[in-house]
Amino acid sequence: MEKKWKCTVCGYIHEGKTPPEFCPVCGAFKYQFILYEPLPPSLEKHLREAFAGESKAYVRNLAFAAQADREGFPQVARLFRAVAEAERVHAQEYLKYLEGVVEDTETNLKKAFENEMRAKNEYYPDFIKEALALKREDVYWSFNRARDVEERHALLYKQALTAMVSDKEITYHVCQVCGYVFDGEPPDRCPVCGAERKRFKKVG
Ligand SMILES: [Fe+2]
Ligand SMILES: [Fe+2]
Ligand SMILES: [Zn+2]
Ligand SMILES: [Zn+2]
Repeated sequence: MEKKWKCTVCGYIHEGKTPPEFCPVCGAFKYQFILYEPLPPSLEKHLREAFAGESKAYVRNLAFAAQADREGFPQVARLFRAVAEAERVHAQEYLKYLEGVVEDTETNLKKAFENEMRAKNEYYPDFIKEALALKREDVYWSFNRARDVEERHALLYKQALTAMVSDKEITYHVCQVCGYVFDGEPPDRCPVCGAERKRFKKVG
């Protein structure tokens, strides 16, 4: 029976028993095609779980790599970084099936803005209250810094929405303590956590 296959890179629809070896429009490899039909709900749930699990494994492996470096095992650190990269590939693989997660850039900017605002206004306030009630000021500070920084992320997304087609090239610096994002040259200290300039990482 003929089936419909969709190229997840360019949207081209192919009809046949199997996907083509390469997309005739964009050259994508056959495994970038998915069946052009709705996913059974239980499969979609497990794809979402697998996506979350692989995403966590990526960050965890980078932490393992940093620890290996600290202990003086640079080769083990390289292995952890390589496998972290592989877990990122897996996470991206599952994302391919999750309809509506990645959309066009304007929509993605709007969704990214809303996610930041939701984190700031809905999730973090309760976490912050709980940490305070349980007298864990360290956790309270972590949540607090993150909440303050989410609003900054939201603002940057909002600005980007109004300047999507801009030839101005901005380099970003990210505070490695709190996640504050600077557009352009960073100041001597992070405005949210007070970290020194050497703790900013240049991105992009
Ligand atoms: Fe994996
Ligand atoms: Fe954020
Ligand atoms: Zn294609
Ligand atoms: Zn900071």
